[in-house]
Amino acid sequence: MAIPERFMTNDKGTFGEYTASSRWPIILQNAIDDLTTQQELEKSNTTKFQQAESIKTGLRQFRQDVIDRVRLRPFTEEEIKLANVPLSFNEYLKEHSEANWGDVEWLFSEVYLYRRVNVLFQRESEWAEFDIFNRLKQSTFESSFHGVVELALRYQNLLPQLKNIGQNSEDNDEDLLKVLFKEFIEISLWGNATDLSLLTNATLEEIKSIQGAKARAESESKIVVNDTDKAWGVLTNAKANANGKPIRVDFVLDNSGFELYADLMLAAFLLESGLATKCIFHAKDIPYMVSDVMLKDFDILVQDLRDREFFPSGQPSTKESKALDFFAKEMGKFISSGELEFREDSFWTTELDYWNLDTKETKYHGSVLHKDLLNSNLVIFKGDLNYRKLTGDRKWPRTTKWETAIGPLATNGITSLSLRTCKADVQVGLPEGLDAKLSQEWEKENPGRGSWWCCSGKWAVICFCSGKSD
Ligand code: F6P
Ligand code: MG
Repeated sequence: MAIPERFMTNDKGTFGEYTASSRWPIILQNAIDDLTTQQELEKSNTTKFQQAESIKTGLRQFRQDVIDRVRLRPFTEEEIKLANVPLSFNEYLKEHSEANWGDVEWLFSEVYLYRRVNVLFQRESEWAEFDIFNRLKQSTFESSFHGVVELALRYQNLLPQLKNIGQNSEDNDEDLLKVLFKEFIEISLWGNATDLSLLTNATLEEIKSIQGAKARAESESKIVVNDTDKAWGVLTNAKANANGKPIRVDFVLDNSGFELYADLMLAAFLLESGLATKCIFHAKDIPYMVSDVMLKDFDILVQDLRDREFFPSGQPSTKESKALDFFAKEMGKFISSGELEFREDSFWTTELDYWNLDTKETKYHGSVLHKDLLNSNLVIFKGDLNYRKLTGDRKWPRTTKWETAIGPLATNGITSLSLRTCKADVQVGLPEGLDAKLSQEWEKENPGRGSWWCCSGKWAVICFCSGKSD
């Protein structure tokens, strides 16, 4: 099959077109407003105050450029040095010199946007370490209080049982473990529904409605591709044949706050049950896609769990407070033992899709990461943007086989699992007829936008690939 084109920002009636024309200006305006708030707090530092003014001027101009659909310019030599911009961006723009904000590949332009924002901050020494999205990340996590406590309690209650199962290997224990595996995979999956770039104005009730056990149970029928059993097979097989060898699970992370917390729950479950002996979390090296995890976000999350003003669970003696403290302690334990490790790499914030996670990509760490991920028993790709990168964000027919859409990753040895709530136009792996059915359903409430069912975050997919050509 010929490889289709990528989605463009001028593909009429797509979520990509809507994102470029409506969502990006809002995201950039929110960044300007948040910087203003922060600047006011730092008023006494004149240099810092003035530097913030320069960044805001740059951001306003940049926002206008996006609205006016000007051409995307290459990064200057100075910017490349100053902000360590990977050269892949300029190489792309050399090949696509006509690209403007209204007529450019959606994937490239979206990733480029966050690089340009980052350069503006890197220019100003006082703000170089500042994460412009931190305020939003924190306030949404704070609103996730109910979901956070519910999971902490669930984890604490489950742990003694889990340790027990980890040591025995009776058949009914195996069945129980499988049920729990499925539950924790779904916790991590639906954690991806808490997406700050889509939930900018969500109310506490709305956030609550997508984070609890009840919401997960109701959403089960919304998982339209579900390969959980295959991932279970891989890890139980690894456990049975481990003989002291490590069982490694990697997470190519997506969002901070509740989603990271849900991913840590899954990792803790895997480690405590013996389905994994090491989990490696791959974070972003710059503020990215509004809410994506950077290394510092893990430390902030653990602090938040311990902070009774941030999460008002009452006195230290309440069961809620104890459960939050307990999970924070678990995290500390896993980090000190090396069972949990965080890494970052600039590859994850380039525009390169994951067809480049291969021996052939030798300039931007694709081959280095590929080599390393071959040592992993399972690489979990979280969220929507990772799904777009796995499939190249191309206009595949929606019934295209997953193995076709992920290109080299189908056969280059990496065992992968994509956990994605659907928030973009690209969609593959569906059985014949399902897209038409869901489009019709969505169309009823969203006239003219039926095909956007898979951009709403209400449906999800769990896609596995062994990475072997069998
Ligand atoms: O702005 C578009 C987008 O990339 C969508 O694909 C998605 O809605 C969001 O941003 C990122 O989602 P996620 O955090 O799940 O990758
Ligand atoms: Mg994200």
